[in-house]
Amino acid sequence: MPRTRFLLLFMLSFFTLKAAESTLTMSSHYCSNSSTFAPNSTYHANLDRVLDVLIRDVVADPDNEFNFTSSGASSSEAVYGSFMCRGDVSNKECADCVKNARVEITQLCQMTKTTFMWYDQCMLRYSNTNFTRKMELEPRLGGYNDENIDQSDEFMKLLNQTMDHAAREAAWHPSRMYGHRNAKFNQEKTLYTFAQCVPYLSKNDCWYCLRNATSSLLSHQKGKIGGRVFLPSCFVRFEIYPFYRSSSKGKVHFLLKISAAIIAAVVGSTLLFYMIVWHLRRGSRRRVLRRESKSYLEEDPIGGKFLNSIPCNLICKQ
Ligand SMILES: *[C@@H]1O[C@H](CO)[C@@H](O)[C@H](O)[C@H]1NC(C)=O
Ligand SMILES: *[C@@H]1O[C@H](CO)[C@@H](O)[C@H](O)[C@H]1NC(C)=O
Ligand SMILES: *[C@@H]1O[C@H](CO)[C@@H](O)[C@H](O)[C@H]1NC(C)=O
Ligand SMILES: *[C@@H]1O[C@H](CO)[C@@H](O)[C@H](O)[C@H]1NC(C)=O
Ligand SMILES: *[C@@H]1O[C@H](CO)[C@@H](O)[C@H](O)[C@H]1NC(C)=O
Ligand SMILES: *[C@@H]1O[C@H](CO)[C@@H](O)[C@H](O)[C@H]1NC(C)=O
Repeated sequence: MPRTRFLLLFMLSFFTLKAAESTLTMSSHYCSNSSTFAPNSTYHANLDRVLDVLIRDVVADPDNEFNFTSSGASSSEAVYGSFMCRGDVSNKECADCVKNARVEITQLCQMTKTTFMWYDQCMLRYSNTNFTRKMELEPRLGGYNDENIDQSDEFMKLLNQTMDHAAREAAWHPSRMYGHRNAKFNQEKTLYTFAQCVPYLSKNDCWYCLRNATSSLLSHQKGKIGGRVFLPSCFVRFEIYPFYRSSSKGKVHFLLKISAAIIAAVVGSTLLFYMIVWHLRRGSRRRVLRRESKSYLEEDPIGGKFLNSIPCNLICKQ
């Protein structure tokens, strides 16, 4: 039926629109200048091998949200590396983010032996020491949205409580290690919080790390509408817009949307009257959807520049 085809095509245009608006935003990076390696050295070769393996793993295994690998482990030129994606991003977003990070990390931190790179959706790091199964609270990176919130004392109190719930959820669910929670601040504003640990931490270490990160958030980012703190073993973030997906995986979320679209198509093709009404509303629906997906996937437009305003004691510590 041509009508059904039209409807399906129309629904599909939503999905392409949504996919095209997904972007990667870099949050923060760290290059340790104290130890560097020479071009074409053994370290350089080991590093390339580690990054190649990480990229291969994130692409090959669609369930990979985290991996760790090493090269030359018994030698003095050993390199250890890992990536981790934010728990709610889709597998494709995760793979895209890590691939992108691999390209940028070697450009931004040229020849430094220890490096961290945080995006909104993923983290990539490498080091000359074996960091796995250790809790690390340094180096500390972070940033905030410059805009202030009214009634900041109440807001910070709500932030502390809400992040506490998100952190408990992360620490008490060892297989996934992330949690999120939202809470209404007032009529217009809702607070969204997210917390995640690397998967090799124990429950207690995860909890400790997230409390430490949250106390940094509370002390450095008083009265701001958004902020993040990244530690090697965990991170926390809050905003006054929804920046994460509440369903556990983007994949599930997407499949639900596809089923909804099929049901809509069947209903639409049998009920001509609704079809016409719906067609007339097409313009406004498209606008609403565009707005929704922007706040969902494109993330904080301030993300790129907010690091300039971060206090040095939070970001520049070795
Ligand atoms: C590394 O060196 C760059 C350029 O000299 C400097 O801006 C940056 O602060 C240094 N980073 C650290 C962690 O010392
Ligand atoms: C490293 O190796 C590449 C190709 O093997 C070569 O083109 C380049 O000049 C070398 N760089 C240094 C600094 O030796
Ligand atoms: C890393 O990726 C490989 C290959 O996909 C997989 O076999 C392995 O279990 C992963 N390791 C971890 C810690 O997830
Ligand atoms: C790194 O350290 C962990 C924990 O101590 C250990 O289990 C693992 O075998 C080490 N990995 C390598 C490649 O040395
Ligand atoms: C945050 O809440 C904890 C209890 O959950 C409390 O011990 C701590 O003092 C609070 N911090 C701030 C800055 O309010
Ligand atoms: C968080 O960890 C840092 C680095 O280890 C430490 O200096 C700081 O005192 C800790 N803060 C809290 C509140 O535990």
